[in-house]
Amino acid sequence: MSQPAANTVILGIETSCDETAVALVDADRRIVAERVLSQLKEHRSYGGVVPEIAARAHLDYLDGLIRDCLAEAKLGFADLAGIAATAGPGLIGGVIVGATMAKAIALAHDLPFVAVNHLEGHALTARLTDDVAFPYLLLLVSGGHCQLLSVEDVGIYRRLGTTIDDAVGEAFDKTAKLLGLGFPGGPAVERAALKGDATRFPLPRPMLGRPGCDFSFAGLKTAVRQAAERIGPNGDSAEQDVCDLAASFQAAVGDVLVDRCRRAIDVFAEQHRGPVSLVIAGGVAANLYLRQRLAGLEARLIAPPPRLCTDNAAMIAWAGQERLKRGLTDGLDIAPRPRWPLDPDAQAVIGRAKIGAGVKV
Ligand code: KG4
Ligand code: ZN
Repeated sequence: MSQPAANTVILGIETSCDETAVALVDADRRIVAERVLSQLKEHRSYGGVVPEIAARAHLDYLDGLIRDCLAEAKLGFADLAGIAATAGPGLIGGVIVGATMAKAIALAHDLPFVAVNHLEGHALTARLTDDVAFPYLLLLVSGGHCQLLSVEDVGIYRRLGTTIDDAVGEAFDKTAKLLGLGFPGGPAVERAALKGDATRFPLPRPMLGRPGCDFSFAGLKTAVRQAAERIGPNGDSAEQDVCDLAASFQAAVGDVLVDRCRRAIDVFAEQHRGPVSLVIAGGVAANLYLRQRLAGLEARLIAPPPRLCTDNAAMIAWAGQERLKRGLTDGLDIAPRPRWPLDPDAQAVIGRAKIGAGVKV
């Protein structure tokens, strides 16, 4: 490993879901050290993430991971330029653990603190990996989100489209559960689909060809459930049937994402000069089949390596770099937020809604 740029290293902490992650990233876009601990065994028997268990596990693991990263980089807290932590959106218990740890380190060592929006971490990853210039078009596809955004600058996002019901990662996870492929669902569906016939099940392509750039996955999810009940009414489907349904589902998602992105590229091109860069980010962007489908569009596709698409702390440390460079630091009194949309339209919806009103943003 080459030496990090002196005194520019930021410690990033990510604890918004079931990955406890820590990373050190310098101002020259070098990931100096990183750790991602997926809490698979803690949650597997429940078939999904249990928020209270996740928060407790973050508490157990976090200080050890920080110590490991600093030791690997041969750095102490005094050598750091700042601390960045996810302050939302996410499972609030876990977010509180990570943000509080970061604030305590910042206070004890008199370091700048940056409260990072987890979605901004995903959104800016392509600038860490590929030095992409603003503005660019972003397809953000994760367990909780499915959005098309125009990324104008750090902190300036305009929404072109969003899901009106489920997130695409959620659809992958539900499909995996229905097909008995276990948890986590996305990678399991992708693996099964490799051995399947994508033309066998004629599944719907919600929103395909509709005006605008919004998404919908609820109808597809229902169709997958009905097909799964037909092939294995007692949860006893044959392996080939499972692979065929996984492949048919993934192909339907691919068709929808390609259609929606094609429209967003047109909208984006009308508003900005020059060739369009399409960045994909979030856990679902790790899917190689979907990456291949999106590569066929008329835009320069930037897809970070799969390990930086799923939750990690390098993206949080990098968002910290981008913010610190612009003087955008936060006070230690900033409160963690379970919901925190990137774009002003969705922020306005949250502002009007009561907590827990079930607003999808
Ligand atoms: O960004 P992420 O790690 O966490 C959130 O912020 O939500 O995304 C997790 C989501 C899960 O729904 C997971 O099933 C999905 O990303 N995912 C995938 C793949 N890897 C992770 N979906 C499809 N194919 C994959 N290879
Ligand atoms: Zn994420």
